[in-house]
Amino acid sequence: MDYFNAPGRNHLFVPGPVNIPDQIIRAMNRNNEDYRSPAIPALTKTLLEDVKKIFKTTTGIPFLIPTTGTGAWESALTNTLSPGDRIVSFLIGQFSLLWIDQQQRLKFNVDVVESDWGQGAKLDVLESKIASDTAHTIKAICIVHNETATGVTNNLAKVRQILDSYKHPALLIVDGVSSICALDFRMDEWGVDVAITGSQKALSLPTGIGIVVAGPRAIEASKTAKSLRVFFDWKDYLKFYQLGTYWPYTPSIHLLYGLRAALDLVFEEGLENVIARHNRLGTATRLAVEAWGLKNCTQKEEWHSDTVTAVIVPSYIDSAEIVRRAWKRYNLSLGLGLNKVAGKVFRIGHLGYLNELQLLGCLAGVEMILQDVGYPVKLGSGVAAASAYFKNTIPLIPSRI
Ligand SMILES: Cc1ncc(COP(=O)(O)O)c(C=O)c1O
Repeated sequence: MDYFNAPGRNHLFVPGPVNIPDQIIRAMNRNNEDYRSPAIPALTKTLLEDVKKIFKTTTGIPFLIPTTGTGAWESALTNTLSPGDRIVSFLIGQFSLLWIDQQQRLKFNVDVVESDWGQGAKLDVLESKIASDTAHTIKAICIVHNETATGVTNNLAKVRQILDSYKHPALLIVDGVSSICALDFRMDEWGVDVAITGSQKALSLPTGIGIVVAGPRAIEASKTAKSLRVFFDWKDYLKFYQLGTYWPYTPSIHLLYGLRAALDLVFEEGLENVIARHNRLGTATRLAVEAWGLKNCTQKEEWHSDTVTAVIVPSYIDSAEIVRRAWKRYNLSLGLGLNKVAGKVFRIGHLGYLNELQLLGCLAGVEMILQDVGYPVKLGSGVAAASAYFKNTIPLIPSRI
């Protein structure tokens, strides 16, 4: 059969793009409209104010760019740095690798600090580099908060502490693509100068908005940064912000309405509750992996990610086969292992508009697939571990108390 609609919903458990809630789909289901009418600037103004809340910043300026995380990276880098600038960048998995490749192609002088995949950024190495850089040749630290390929979360508070203890002025540029709005992220408190995310991750929108938030030091740096930029130039946005019309080009109107709905959902649940829900989802997934007798790719608890878990499979199993079967037989979408960990891990994404019982469905599916590919797992073992934990931790739904 060429085409067959598998009944029910696809269990979308890749770590982005994630499920889009009905409220967002409905908000985007509308005609085009004139973006020069007063309605779009009025909408944009609320978005710029409210986006700051999920980044936990009062001083940052957001840019809602029709792009993906990759474009948001480029916007962050080209607006703040000049070719030849020395930057320290941590290679801990596929996404930090791609970002480093971009940094090199943009002609920065990249000091790469590499870790084993499954480990976090080597902050002891950062400390020694910062301590010895009394001439302040390091212009920026680039770090991925949550490495989506391995399920590793880095400690940004510690990065800030290192920079502060040596009074080092390097900009702190953070990729929060699979963290912001799901994990604890504090732009102002951690002195993050530029932070980025993408709409298709924790915000549960379609792909297409790269959100870049620039703090005051980054805005200052953008006045002298010499990297070539046109479409991504913050100057053009700022000019239109001042005019109150907001857009130097045609905005992606549907995505803006979607973003409004996404932010409303976050505020209705409460950002701290969103973060706590992701912690429950991450903890339950880790308990299931343990119950299956498998290993988490993340090597230490301090790096455990609450948005994605990369599960190491025994060497006699190709993890890509698990992903293929999940989709073919159970209508379950899991994440492939990427690059160095291709064939060795599969990933369970547990981020976005997702609840605990949805995750149990995914875990049940993974157990059946593990048996299909010859791994001797007891059906229900991971589900039991996760549900025993959920039973004691899921709060009442506030509107139904
Ligand atoms: C941590 C991280 N950074 C950057 C990206 C790149 O984002 P995009 O694919 O939207 O360009 C991804 C994509 O998954 C990611 O997970």
